This record gives sequence, structure tokens and C-alpha cells, in this order.
Amino acid sequence: MKLVNVGCGQHISTEWINLDLVSGVRGVTRHDLRQGLPFSANQCDVVYHSHLLEHLTPTEARAFLLDCYRVLRPGGILRVVVPDLEGIARAYLRSLEASDQTGNTEDLDWMRIELLDQMVREYSGGTMRSFVDQSNFCNRPFVQSRIGDELFPPDKAFRQRNRKTFVQRLRRFPAKLTKLRRAVILGAVAVLGGRSDYRALKEGRFRQSGEIHRWMYDRISLCCLLGEIGFMEAGPCRPDESQIPNFEDYQLDSVGSRIRKPDSLFVEAIKPEKLIAQAA
Ligand SMILES: C[S@@+](CC[C@H](N)C(=O)[O-])C[C@H]1O[C@@H](n2cnc3c(N)ncnc32)[C@H](O)[C@@H]1O
Repeated sequence: MKLVNVGCGQHISTEWINLDLVSGVRGVTRHDLRQGLPFSANQCDVVYHSHLLEHLTPTEARAFLLDCYRVLRPGGILRVVVPDLEGIARAYLRSLEASDQTGNTEDLDWMRIELLDQMVREYSGGTMRSFVDQSNFCNRPFVQSRIGDELFPPDKAFRQRNRKTFVQRLRRFPAKLTKLRRAVILGAVAVLGGRSDYRALKEGRFRQSGEIHRWMYDRISLCCLLGEIGFMEAGPCRPDESQIPNFEDYQLDSVGSRIRKPDSLFVEAIKPEKLIAQAA
């Protein structure tokens, strides 16, 4: 079985081919999906991506999904996980109404951030990180029920498993040179263009870094988009439910009985056995 996890971040399964723009942990191959997936047509059994699609512009997302379609074999499965716009909007309204009743605004403050911060932030971690780092952060159970453990430090075992070896640190040398070159360019822009050009370049680079959300999806818009691409049977499913054989064993969307990213919409779709014309 050829199983591909695109935009995998740090949460991977070694039985999958794991691709990401940045290769932070062992077992991840660095690849920018905007260059196209590095597989020939009809080669993969499963393509999975979690909290990736919303990082692409709608135009990039359509091109990427067409590419997922291309690399999947007929009958192959696409599993897409994204933040659930409908669920987030409903939770925001619920906390707004609760706040009217109780006068407490902590959950509402979080929901506003959850809805907006990843689209507008100008620095890594954004207001989400500042919210959980504040000394009077008092609604951790609510925040965890919304987004899981993402903003909370990984355990010691995880850090030890992923400690960089000497060879890995050596391999990062070209990336360090790139960093240096970018710093020199930024310095030159500050000198020649002044403060506003410096800020424009810095913000533009950050927006290109893969951390920003560029769109959001609900169950209807995502399933319609997959249908337009040529997939069939596109429909939402539960986090622990999948047509991918033994999916729960890989612990990608749920770890034991815990849903990893509770704020998500989970959708699966199939590439038809009998190919129909693809949307342009
Ligand atoms: C929010 S993280 C999700 C990580 C992981 N899939 C998960 O569910 O925990 C988004 C990931 O998409 C990656 N990413 C964003 N743009 C990308 C691109 N153009 N090519 C490959 N990976 C990309 C980022 O580097 C980041 O690791």
C-alpha cells in the first residue's frame, strides 16, 4: 500500500510517506506541494492531509486537489481534515450567548481568536500562543476541548525521540545559509527602503511560510469542491471512522480514544474506478 501524508508537520506514521514544507522530525521528506506531488499518475492508494488545505489560497487548493486526484489510483481514497468553519462559527455563537448570560468572556475571547487569528497573524504562534501563555490563562480545559494539545508542550519522550543527531544538524547547514542570505536581504531592504518596506517584506515572508490560513471550509463547500475535481462519494465522517484499511492503527486523527484535533471537519472521497472528465 502506498500511503501519503502531505503537510504532515510533526505528527507522522512511519508506514506512510510523510511530506512537508519543513522537515522538523525524522521520517519527513521536505517538499513544497505547490511544485506538484512527487509521484506519477495512479500510483498512490491513499492521500491524507490534515490541517493543510486551509493554508493554501483557493486557487492553490484546487490545483493541489487535482494533483491528489492525479496521483491516486482509481478506487484510491482521499482523506481531508480541515478546521470546521461551521463548527467554529457555531461554538463562537454559543459562547457569545453564554457570555450574555454569565458575563464571563474567557471562552468567547478564545473563540474569536480561534476564528480569526490564523488568518491575520503577523508572527509565529500569533494571538493563540499569547492567549495560552498569559499569566491569568484560566480556561485551558475549554481551549483543549476545542483544539486538542497543539498549543501545549509535547512530552519529554517526544522531545527525546526527535532530538537531532549530529548528521541531521550538519544537514541543516544549507538551511542556515539560506537564513543568513534572507537576513542580509532584509537588512538591505531596511537600509534602502526604510521601515515600511522592511515590515512589508517581513510580513510577506511570514505569510508565505505555510503558517497562515488562506481560506476555510464547511462540509458543503469542501464536498462540492471534491465533487468538482472528479471525486465521488465525498462526505463527512467521524474522526475514528475511515474507509482506509486499519486507519485507527496509524493514530493520525485519534490517539487512543482522544481526538487529536477536535475542531476539525473530516471528509473522505474516492477516485472513481471508471474515470470521468476532471474539472479544469
Ligand atoms: C497546521 S500544520 C498541520 C500539521 C499536521 N498535518 C497535523 O495535522 O498536525 C500545517 C502543515 O502544513 C505544512 N505546509 C504548509 N504549506 C505547505 C506546502 N506548500 N507544502 C508542504 N507543506 C506545507 C506546514 O509546514 C505545516 O507543517
